[in-house]
Amino acid sequence: MNPFGYRNGRLHAEDVDLADLARETGTPCYVYSRSAIEERWRAFDEAFTGRDHLVCYAVKANSNLAVLDALARLGSGFDIVSGGELERVLAAGGDPARTVFSGVGKTPEEMRRALEVGIACFNVESEPELQTLNAVAGAVGRRAPVSLRVNPDVDPATHPYIATGLKESKFGIDIAAARAVYRRARGLEHIVVKGVASHIGSQLTDVSPFVLALERVMELVGDLMDDGFDLEHLDLGGGLGIRYADETPPEPVDYALALLDRLQRFGSRYQRLKLLIEPGRAIVGNAGLLLTRVLYLKHAADRSFAVVDAAMNDLLRPALYDAWHDIAPLQLDESRERRVYDIVGPVCESGDFLGHARELAIAPGDLLVVASAGAYGAVMSSNYNTRPRVPEVMVDGDRYHVVRRRESVSDLLAPESRLPG
Ligand code: LLP
Repeated sequence: MNPFGYRNGRLHAEDVDLADLARETGTPCYVYSRSAIEERWRAFDEAFTGRDHLVCYAVKANSNLAVLDALARLGSGFDIVSGGELERVLAAGGDPARTVFSGVGKTPEEMRRALEVGIACFNVESEPELQTLNAVAGAVGRRAPVSLRVNPDVDPATHPYIATGLKESKFGIDIAAARAVYRRARGLEHIVVKGVASHIGSQLTDVSPFVLALERVMELVGDLMDDGFDLEHLDLGGGLGIRYADETPPEPVDYALALLDRLQRFGSRYQRLKLLIEPGRAIVGNAGLLLTRVLYLKHAADRSFAVVDAAMNDLLRPALYDAWHDIAPLQLDESRERRVYDIVGPVCESGDFLGHARELAIAPGDLLVVASAGAYGAVMSSNYNTRPRVPEVMVDGDRYHVVRRRESVSDLLAPESRLPG
């Protein structure tokens, strides 16, 4: 379902006219659709029907409390990568017992808090981390539930910055060394081995790397079972891609069928393993957009620029990954002249662009939307150039709620101080 569509030439989010919303909230502004987020979560959940499973939404993709709240109400699990994300899950009413903790650099303080609230599992990414976790768990008088995140050395065929399952990546433990690390983990008093985890990368548009990774991980699972480990779950990570331009990523149901089909071919001792998945982008990516207003049209010798009020600090993906996001006007107006523009922001960097060479019929003051901005949009924003972070709005049917207010410049200055004296 695409929650965004034109009615009488005016772009709506569900039943809300985005021009009305922009008038009230101002621009720039992130807009999310609650029903689109919920529908995508359910699509994953239903796709694994018949198998014990838990969809652990990857909080990093969009950690707004309202997003987490909506998903928590559906019974979602969560994948977190910091103590801050853990506090968000708790504040949004999420269940720590359905929360897994990933990431290569968990601190002892983060481990302690996660143990105290009783998270489901630590996805441990190195042996030194395992030692630290064992010590912290001993100090708080708990046993830490653990999966080792193994690195299956699979090429996910995605942008190198978001590929994580290759041998040379900093993530996970080399799958060839993992069996020995599991054996040593068994000797640690305050560690309980629960499962095996892997995640190979993000924005994958084909199921085959997922299936290949699963096969490699299942070999390890077999070895571990032979070694007498009583594994409860298998965490297959996130990474399913979305359509930004003309990609044709599998639907959650196709992704699930491919994995379930492959799993079925393993023996019966594997069938009681609970499956965890950690989708982020595929749940929220196409459920959000960034609203922005054209400030100026600027015609230089060999190109034209549309200077808009959103910038790389609001949506970093184009500048960082050369990512392509569709850019469209809020109101269709066929009478205007179409021209090719670079859509750029006010930040003082040549890399500050939202799109290159886009043909648009626009005038100063027009509203534009940058599409597919629900994932890795607001969460990656910064205050560069002392630009306050923009509001986030959740549309729900014909209503909407401002779920993060616009920052003020005083918010930005508050933590700072001048020199003494
Ligand atoms: N699980 C783990 C362990 C991860 O590292 C990630 C993403 C996910 C799950 C969720 O992946 P997803 O389903 O969203 O693909 N900022 C980049 C994406 C970075 C992804 C990092 N890890 C972007 O804007 O494309």
